[in-house]
Order: sequence, then structure tokens, then C-alpha cells
Amino acid sequence: MKDLSKRIALYPGTFDPITNGHLDIAERAIQIFDHLIIAVAVNPAKQTLFSEQERIKLIEKAVEGLGSFEVTSFSGLTASFAELKGVRAIIRGLRMISDFEYEFQMALMNRKLKPDADTVFLMPSEKYTYLSSSTIKDIARHQGQIDCFVPKAVAEALREKFGGKK
Ligand code: COA
Repeated sequence: MKDLSKRIALYPGTFDPITNGHLDIAERAIQIFDHLIIAVAVNPAKQTLFSEQERIKLIEKAVEGLGSFEVTSFSGLTASFAELKGVRAIIRGLRMISDFEYEFQMALMNRKLKPDADTVFLMPSEKYTYLSSSTIKDIARHQGQIDCFVPKAVAEALREKFGGKK
């Protein structure tokens, strides 16, 4: 039987790779919920730099010791995975107005697919509003400095992929 006394939320994303902005959202979410499932979306149509297992490992290292987290992956619909996990709150980060239209559409569609679940939007610290996984990868690819944007293990993993100095 599911433990209904626990407030569990699901934070889905591509996380290719996790950045300090994602981590900021996860840390905010765990202040509100008892347990957070961070779920790496596996979409064969989307080419990623890091494999499913690499993305999971990097998230696990980033959230280690920070609270009650489970890091996993899923394919298919977020709404179906939320149903499978018995979760009624889906966490998404809103960095700026430009995120809103896409996120609003996705939240309403997810609610249509799973009416008993709601999306909870959290805003990251303003110092992370301009971060995205693609820009971080682009900076790393050109040997730029990435340490202040991503967790330590991610910076190391990016250097392994692209070379580059500390
Ligand atoms: N800090 C830094 N960057 C952030 C961020 C934050 N707080 N929040 C989002 N981003 C960035 C990501 O780095 C990513 O950047 P990129 O495009 O440069 O790689 C971008 O914003 C979006 O990333 P993410 O939050 O991972 O969302 P996504 O669009 O990759 O994933 C899913 C969205 C996986 C949740 C969505 O596609 C989904 O639900 N897929 C499953 C299939 C499904 O259910 N489809 C129907 C949906 S209604």
C-alpha cells in the first residue's frame, strides 16, 4: 500500500547534464516535499551528450547528502510515470517569462492526462536564470570555464568529454 502521509513530488527533465539551476530547483522542492523523485527522461528522438546512466549518476552525486531523493529514468509520458509512482505533484522550474508558454502548455496537458496531478512551478535563484544545459555544453566544447555553473562531478565529466583545463 502507498504511504499517503508522505508528500512526494516528481521532477522530470532531460538533465543533459544537470546544472546548478536544476539543483537549485531540487533543493527548493525538497524543502516543501518529503521526497523528490528526479527522473531523467529518455527520448530516443533526442540526442544527448550523456547517456541515461551517466545522467543518473551525475544527478545522484549532485544531490548526495541533501535530502530524501530518488534518481531514476523513464520513457514515455511524464503523466504515466507520475501515475506509476503515485505522485500528484510535478515540479518544473520557471527561469524567465520565455519558459512560461511551453511550461504552461505542458502543465495543462499533463493535467488533462492525469487530472489528479498538478504542476508546481518553482523559480531558481536569479543567478541561474540564464543557465541551460546546451549553453554549458557549448562553453565546455570550446574549453570555457564552467565550474561555477554545474556541480563538481558534472564539470569533470564535461572536461572528460571535451578536454579542457580546470
Ligand atoms: N536551471 C537551468 N536550466 C534549466 C532549468 C533550471 N532550473 N530548467 C530548465 N532548464 C533548461 C535545461 O537545461 C534545458 O536546456 P537545453 O534545452 O539547453 O538542454 C531546457 O531548460 C529544458 O530542459 P528540461 O527542464 O530538462 O526540460 P526538457 O524540455 O528537456 O524536458 C520533459 C521536458 C522531459 C519534462 C518533457 O519533455 C516530458 O514530459 N517528456 C516526456 C513525454 C511527455 O510526457 N510528453 C508530453 C508532455 S505534455
